[in-house]
Amino acid sequence: MITKSDIDKGHAFYTPFTLKLYNFIVPVFNNHFVWRCPTYYQLREYRRYVTPLHLDIGVGTGFFLKRTPWPADTQLSLMDLNPACLEAAARSVNWLKPTIYLADIFEVQPHLANKFTSISMNYLLHCLPGNMTVKKQAISNAASMLRSGGVLFGSTILSDPELQNFLSRRVMSYFNKKQCFSNLEDTHAMLKQALEENLSQVEIQIIGCVALFKGIKK
Ligand SMILES: C[S@@+](CC[C@H](N)C(=O)[O-])C[C@H]1O[C@@H](n2cnc3c(N)ncnc32)[C@H](O)[C@@H]1O
Repeated sequence: MITKSDIDKGHAFYTPFTLKLYNFIVPVFNNHFVWRCPTYYQLREYRRYVTPLHLDIGVGTGFFLKRTPWPADTQLSLMDLNPACLEAAARSVNWLKPTIYLADIFEVQPHLANKFTSISMNYLLHCLPGNMTVKKQAISNAASMLRSGGVLFGSTILSDPELQNFLSRRVMSYFNKKQCFSNLEDTHAMLKQALEENLSQVEIQIIGCVALFKGIKK
């Protein structure tokens, strides 16, 4: 059972100040040296799967949004529980005039049912509280916003022991103590099961200790 306070710990870290540092610390440093998954791989998947009717959930600074060549007819939507993240991400793609949803991915969004043809969730799942059984609700809520045949894709940091080295184990343990991560029970097998319960054609690539995943709405 997770509480509102657990959920809030997953986004409280992101303030206008930490967001200024984020684009250096996470994509440049942590992805290469700590998680051993150069940002290039996430960006490649982002560019591969976005469609003109796209929703990004857990937007951060809008790092990938800003670096994606969007089609001229794009209708972009952004969803996050943290207003500072929504503001920063919307600013990064202001020419697209994105639609903003201040919302918790643990809440069902009936007004957005079957609306999007692609949804991204990069580095969201490892910030959410609870184990993969709890996080499955977030995956299911995201899938419910996809049209049939639409794609859900993203990335998350896993804790399988064989994917870790000394540095990733130490940094992950620190972030879990600070409660900005909650992924000590997130494994490849559990992620696969959670995705397959909601999507078809699930594919997961593991690079370093990062899972890059994709699945299609049944
Ligand atoms: C690590 S950042 C990821 C940023 C971006 N997607 C990237 O990969 O650069 C996690 C994001 O998830 C958001 N978040 C955390 N918990 C959330 C929740 N329950 N519902 C919606 N967004 C949430 C945070 O506010 C933050 O923007």
